[in-house]
Amino acid sequence: MTEPLVVLKDVQKHFGDLHVLRDINLEIGKGEVVVVIGPSGSGKSTLCRAINRLETVESGTITIDGKALPEEGKALAQLRADVGMVFQSFNLFAHKTILDNVTLGPIKVRKQKKADAEKRGMELLERVGVAQQAQKFPAQLSGGQQQRVAIARSLAMDPKVMLFDEPTSALDPEMINEVLDVMVGLAKEGMTMIVVTHEMGFARKAANRVVFMADGQIVEENTPEEFFTHPKSDRAKDFLGKILTH
Ligand SMILES: Nc1ncnc2c1ncn2[C@@H]1O[C@H](COP(=O)(O)OP(=O)(O)O)[C@@H](O)[C@H]1O
Ligand SMILES: [Mg+2]
Repeated sequence: MTEPLVVLKDVQKHFGDLHVLRDINLEIGKGEVVVVIGPSGSGKSTLCRAINRLETVESGTITIDGKALPEEGKALAQLRADVGMVFQSFNLFAHKTILDNVTLGPIKVRKQKKADAEKRGMELLERVGVAQQAQKFPAQLSGGQQQRVAIARSLAMDPKVMLFDEPTSALDPEMINEVLDVMVGLAKEGMTMIVVTHEMGFARKAANRVVFMADGQIVEENTPEEFFTHPKSDRAKDFLGKILTH
């Protein structure tokens, strides 16, 4: 593997009695694309949120580019800016234009000049194919367009790593590929990515590694080809049987 960018060591977390992250050990190299897959409730979102420190962990360590996750304050805001996150719901600001959605972070957090942020914002909107919509409001765009704006907004912060938590699962089927294509492009350009998705086409095309989670544990990890054709654990076989036949 290349130099590790995101490292989780012995990470534990409970929600009350529920042991939601069980001794998670995971290293993601610079430029690596890791797909996280597993049944609903297995802890995939909690894992993403812990990496972005939207959730605290009880023990173990999480480092990004060699730095431990700060507790709070300025350092935490800086770290969050280094970790782009795209959720299932697009979370755009409804009362701001598409371009303002993309430039807000760079202006407020990265202290960029408005003109510079807008120039870069337009380039990013161009890249994800929604530049024509720059002056519209989120509600005027389709779900697929909004999700591409959400990706552009994250990229505007120049993140070191991008987390995607089921970015296509709220989309109508005909919009899924336009979002996945943008993600495949990012992967090819060398972005470090952690992607929670059940889209096997994406995993096969773009992922270096598939991590299978069940009940808060990493049960197995492998190349996409090996994982999808020769899953080792009964949990993975059972899960793949379900998603392949439905
Ligand atoms: N804030 C919370 N408080 C209590 N339980 C939670 C909370 N968030 C998630 N959970 C529970 O933790 C488990 C893992 O959730 P999650 O990480 O969302 O799984 P996944 O993304 O794999 O579906 C689930 O059983 C869920 O109900
Ligand atoms: Mg989830």
